[in-house]
Amino acid sequence: MASIAVYSVKGGVGKTTLAVNLAWISATISRRKTLLWDLDASNGSGFLLGVDARKKRSADSVFLRDGDPEKLIRATAYPGLDLLPADESIRALDRQLGELGKKRRIARIAEGLGKRYERIIFDCPPVLGELSAQVMRAADLVIVPLPPSPLSARAFEVVVEEVRGHGKGHPPILPVLSMLDLRRSLHKAAREANPAWPVIPLASAVELCAVEQRPLGAFAPRSPAARAMAGLWTAIEKKLASRKGDK
Ligand SMILES: Nc1ncnc2c1ncn2[C@@H]1O[C@H](COP(=O)(O)OP(=O)(O)OP(=O)(O)O)[C@@H](O)[C@H]1O
Ligand SMILES: [Mg+2]
Repeated sequence: MASIAVYSVKGGVGKTTLAVNLAWISATISRRKTLLWDLDASNGSGFLLGVDARKKRSADSVFLRDGDPEKLIRATAYPGLDLLPADESIRALDRQLGELGKKRRIARIAEGLGKRYERIIFDCPPVLGELSAQVMRAADLVIVPLPPSPLSARAFEVVVEEVRGHGKGHPPILPVLSMLDLRRSLHKAAREANPAWPVIPLASAVELCAVEQRPLGAFAPRSPAARAMAGLWTAIEKKLASRKGDK
């Protein structure tokens, strides 16, 4: 099993959209049994996949009361893709995990889930704290979507510093220029300054995911954005393979 976190302290940079689309590609194109693990109380991943929220709000039981994650996991409309949904009950998870004092709680749960899944993708909330520290301990790779700007490189350094601050031996971090619009000169400059970074274009097809409540591949598979997502997934798999080769 390999786990991938989509993370940034910035809100609205495309984390949930990326997490959902990458999870779909992992399950459908790479045919890997995949779990999308929503750690944001607003349950955006569940919404984008059209999975109805449960009436009973019990997502916190997984973290705080030795609850069985298997009981909360929901199948999606897509073979090979399951969702561990979030709900309002995890709104205070950051503080509660700190109080619990088990630093590898999320890593341990993920290890257990690794028996059933080949890929786990974390959709993180835009918060820096105990929750993000735990995700960094659990993840093999961190994807950081960055809005294109002259400050993209600086923004990326900030995230790297944050992740480093979580302790030695952090996972590798892959920056992604999200919402790139090459008609804008500042976006173009950001692209030219960081030519090796994967790119997701600014596209109405991506926005439509929230209207369709389906991943891009399910309704616009030939769109440039869908291709960019697939290209990003290939880069992720390569990075995971090279890392495993290191060991
Ligand atoms: N490549 C893109 N092109 C156009 N719109 C996009 C793109 N990526 C994301 N969006 C839109 O930007 C908005 C924010 O995206 P998303 O919810 O994925 O961000 P987020 O980082 O998860 O936000 P939060 O921090 O609130 O969890 C959504 O309306 C989404 O449809
Ligand atoms: Mg989100």
